[in-house]
Amino acid sequence: MAPKAKDGCVFALGVLPSSLLMVLFLTGCNGPQSTLQPAGIGAERIAALFWWMFAGALAIWLVVMGIALYAMHIKKVSHSPRQARWLIIGGGAALPTVVLFALLAWGLLLLPSLREPREPGLQIAVSGEQWWWRVKYVLESGETVELANEIRLPVGERVEFTLTSPDVIHSFWIPSLGGKVDMIPGRTTRLVLEPSKTGVYRGVCAEYCGSSHALMNFQVVVTGPQQFGRWLEQQAKPAVSPDTPMEKRGQKAFLSNGCGACHSVRGTDAKGAIGPDLTHVGSRLGLGADVLTNDKEAFTHWIRHTDQIKPDVKMPSFEMLPRKEVAELAAYLDGLK
Ligand code: CUA
Repeated sequence: MAPKAKDGCVFALGVLPSSLLMVLFLTGCNGPQSTLQPAGIGAERIAALFWWMFAGALAIWLVVMGIALYAMHIKKVSHSPRQARWLIIGGGAALPTVVLFALLAWGLLLLPSLREPREPGLQIAVSGEQWWWRVKYVLESGETVELANEIRLPVGERVEFTLTSPDVIHSFWIPSLGGKVDMIPGRTTRLVLEPSKTGVYRGVCAEYCGSSHALMNFQVVVTGPQQFGRWLEQQAKPAVSPDTPMEKRGQKAFLSNGCGACHSVRGTDAKGAIGPDLTHVGSRLGLGADVLTNDKEAFTHWIRHTDQIKPDVKMPSFEMLPRKEVAELAAYLDGLK
């Protein structure tokens, strides 16, 4: 048998790094995409469940380590078979069954409240597509306002999302605001979110959906209700007319190169429904489902190198266009605030 001191060292070697790793792991869990820094009612409930599970796991781990230390250092005698059997049945089967059943029951009881709206409120339909997000706000009049890759929400209001997909299974997840729900072709799933803090958060696709799965993100901006109302009113308007001669040439290039076959710019002849609606693309926080910043350089880069930025994306790269024309296109799109 190994000497005492060595046992203690082995124990310390096992415990200290795992505790340190746990501290590092938890301190890494903040920022705009953290389930442990909740900014919504659903995420708060899920975080509470997580902390109870963590506390339970920690308590069980401490008890097991205590028993191990006791057996190794304090009472080094063998137990009777009867005592050993009760320890195994009680600690190994009965206790985990009770604890896990209680946690499962709590988790299942949370589910209805994470799905049902308390009262009819804001409705947003989101469709996960390879590899971007089609977002439709349903207005009180029944009309819809379509945009892409960005969602804005009023703080303190319950919002119902209806989730679909036309191609493969995606999963809609805003970790700071609530749980994730799969988007399944041929079905409509639902999720209710209620942001409790203003701020900018990040949404992601949480189900592997093809080569650019990791490049399918969106920004979520939570503001006060009035600011939200002004934003939605602005998004419902048709596109602004191009201002400068360069933007005007850009609009001409947009229409003559067939961009309108896939993209819509409301108020123009571009009425395509395959790709993202670009009516107010210049007002968004990111480009290409939040893989690029939103400025003229990023538009230029995106138009010329879609395939390099997002492998297997449906939009072809337009490297063959003269650089001057791409710059004009970028100026036009950037001006669509
Ligand atoms: Cu869409 Cu992963």
